[in-house]
Amino acid sequence: MNITYHSGGLTPGEYDALRLSVGWAAEHPEQSAATLEGSDVIIVARDVGEAVGMARIFSDGGANAYIEDVIVRPDHQKQGIARELVTRVLAHMRSTVKPGYRLKITNMSAEGLEGFYGSFGWESRPSPGHGHGMAMWYYGEGVKPRSNG
Ligand SMILES: CC(C)(COP(=O)(O)OP(=O)(O)OC[C@H]1O[C@@H](n2cnc3c(N)ncnc32)[C@H](O)[C@@H]1OP(=O)(O)O)[C@@H](O)C(=O)NCCC(=O)NCCS
Repeated sequence: MNITYHSGGLTPGEYDALRLSVGWAAEHPEQSAATLEGSDVIIVARDVGEAVGMARIFSDGGANAYIEDVIVRPDHQKQGIARELVTRVLAHMRSTVKPGYRLKITNMSAEGLEGFYGSFGWESRPSPGHGHGMAMWYYGEGVKPRSNG
């Protein structure tokens, strides 16, 4: 195995394949393309060219950003790839913080990964003064309600 890490270059088809590999749904093709285009940083792990992992962050261009789609294909898990992906997307965002600026990166952790994300500095909620993180979805016609991925 020869894992290399790349900034960008993930196609919508590769993105969908990664999502499907971990049991998440693929989104509408136009939405997948928009999701990738709207990301500030996408780091892709490739094994001999094949996309086997990703992490991405998008921001409002100001003080708030979100990390999403931390995915490693099951046949490549437990080899430190996710840790490397998250380290790299965070390094990129940190480099954008100018003197006097502050950036919050929100993370809706999957169940059981709080320790992993906590090791990077994310604080779990609820905590004193902060409630639970919350999420909701809107569904276009023809999409069945689901809350995974
Ligand atoms: C979660 C996921 C990205 C981890 O990828 P990975 O490459 O296997 O992770 P790593 O090998 O870099 O391990 C990172 C750390 O998390 C821990 N970890 C990995 N998977 C875990 C799991 N399912 N539950 C709890 N801890 C886990 C590892 O023990 C490791 O800890 P360490 O660095 O202290 O040794 C991968 O299992 C995955 O794609 N899961 C499905 C999608 C998902 O839920 N993504 C997270 C969305 S918030």
